[in-house]
Amino acid sequence: MIQGIPLEVLQFIFSYVRLTSDDVLVDLGSGDGRVCLYASKHYGCYAVGYEIDKAQYEKAVETQKWYGGNASFIYKDFKEADLSKYSVIFGYIHSYDGVDFSKVSKDTKIVTVATKPFGLKLLEQIDCLRHRFYLWSVE
Ligand SMILES: C[S@@+](CC[C@H](N)C(=O)[O-])C[C@H]1O[C@@H](n2cnc3c(N)ncnc32)[C@H](O)[C@@H]1O
Repeated sequence: MIQGIPLEVLQFIFSYVRLTSDDVLVDLGSGDGRVCLYASKHYGCYAVGYEIDKAQYEKAVETQKWYGGNASFIYKDFKEADLSKYSVIFGYIHSYDGVDFSKVSKDTKIVTVATKPFGLKLLEQIDCLRHRFYLWSVE
């Protein structure tokens, strides 16, 4: 079992946004890969994780070898990501300075812990256990 953010919280969020196998999810700052791996394995979507910490990136790649999941991990700053490709954007990080949301589709669901990613419209607050996330869309 993957440790870290409680699986109940991930399940709650993914159910909340109605994640399906048709989705393509990106995790901005994917850490040890748990979000991408859990999403892809249990919801059938394809997931991509951007991570700048090499040790965290390598941990994600290693975990995928035994855990499975249709996910790709990219050892790169998420500011370089083409966000137009994704139907769900997830980020457990507070600052999105320099991230280009301009090509993101209006239908893309953006879930973050950040209180105000620049240029996005707040839709809903998501509370689960002691975790608080926000659902955003592009303006
Ligand atoms: C709080 S962790 C979240 C990990 C995972 N998404 C989760 O929810 O369990 C945030 C991660 O973002 C990574 N990070 C921070 N800034 C980044 C950037 N500009 N590009 C890629 N990764 C970044 C950090 O190295 C860290 O692993």
